[in-house]
Amino acid sequence: MPIADNIKLAVVTGGGHGIGRAICRRLSSDGCDVVVADIEEDAAVAVAGEIGGRGYGVDVGDENDFAKFILSVEENVGPIDLFVSNAGVGFGDADSMAGSKRGGIGNAEDRWAACWRVNVMAHVYAARTLIPLMVARDGGYLVNVASAAGLLSQIGDAAYSATKHAAVAFAESLAITHGEQGIHVSVVCPQAVATQMIGIADDSDSLEGGFGGNDVDGILRPEDVADRIIEGIEEKRFLILPHPQVATYVQRKANDHGRWIAGMQRFQRKLSRQGD
Ligand SMILES: NC(=O)c1ccc[n+]([C@@H]2O[C@H](COP(=O)([O-])OP(=O)(O)OC[C@H]3O[C@@H](n4cnc5c(N)ncnc54)[C@H](O)[C@@H]3O)[C@@H](O)[C@H]2O)c1
Repeated sequence: MPIADNIKLAVVTGGGHGIGRAICRRLSSDGCDVVVADIEEDAAVAVAGEIGGRGYGVDVGDENDFAKFILSVEENVGPIDLFVSNAGVGFGDADSMAGSKRGGIGNAEDRWAACWRVNVMAHVYAARTLIPLMVARDGGYLVNVASAAGLLSQIGDAAYSATKHAAVAFAESLAITHGEQGIHVSVVCPQAVATQMIGIADDSDSLEGGFGGNDVDGILRPEDVADRIIEGIEEKRFLILPHPQVATYVQRKANDHGRWIAGMQRFQRKLSRQGD
């Protein structure tokens, strides 16, 4: 069944670039009306212009502005059938120290706070605002883009790993609590994807990028990830793994956590030797 039979109006955060932009394009080509939201208003407007949608500048980490934005879409555009919380940030550990307070991109407190706001709380804000409206009309779909780092941990980025784990746990809570009210939830956990987040510019032909071993199973293009997400939505699948190998790693971790940590320590040693 084409996705637009169930989903007329979709909102995608972080839709100005990368995976979000690819999701916007795919949803639009499937016949959905798409609202593109991004902290970079120009990028949101450009993507919206290309697909005949609407583009807005919004900071998903600011609950007031984000809730106002969602409510104004509901009031002025229509009921949101699908909300994709895709915006995300990651900064890396400063000085290769998981708990460092020093240097890197901004200071450590700011990096952790930004990861919590954008990678986790934005999902909470969207759910808080939308679920009562969706429940009142017998259902809706929330897709939360987390990361394989939310199941397995990303070497070299403690804040990203911890907040993506929280994002997975929050999606689980949403699915458990609201499933019987007609709320469908999917959480997306890719490994490396060719976007500016891993240093690959939008529309680059290159697949050279990746860091900290996140590219071990290859770097996917954002368009392929968008296709996997739409397949997952069509099947109403909770866990969407664009890199299927992640399922095996999660099983190995669950079977023997200590052994998994030892394996990751070996992998980190190998990566630091390669970096010398
Ligand atoms: N690229 C990867 O390797 C990879 C792997 C796993 C998961 N992810 C996740 O996929 C999602 C999309 O990332 P991407 O790889 O396309 O990176 P990207 O940097 O290309 O896109 C992220 C988008 O989010 C927007 N954004 C950032 N902060 C925002 C805010 N406060 N409010 C609104 N918009 C904001 C950015 O402007 C950008 O358009 C993220 O949640 C990321 O963590 C990416």
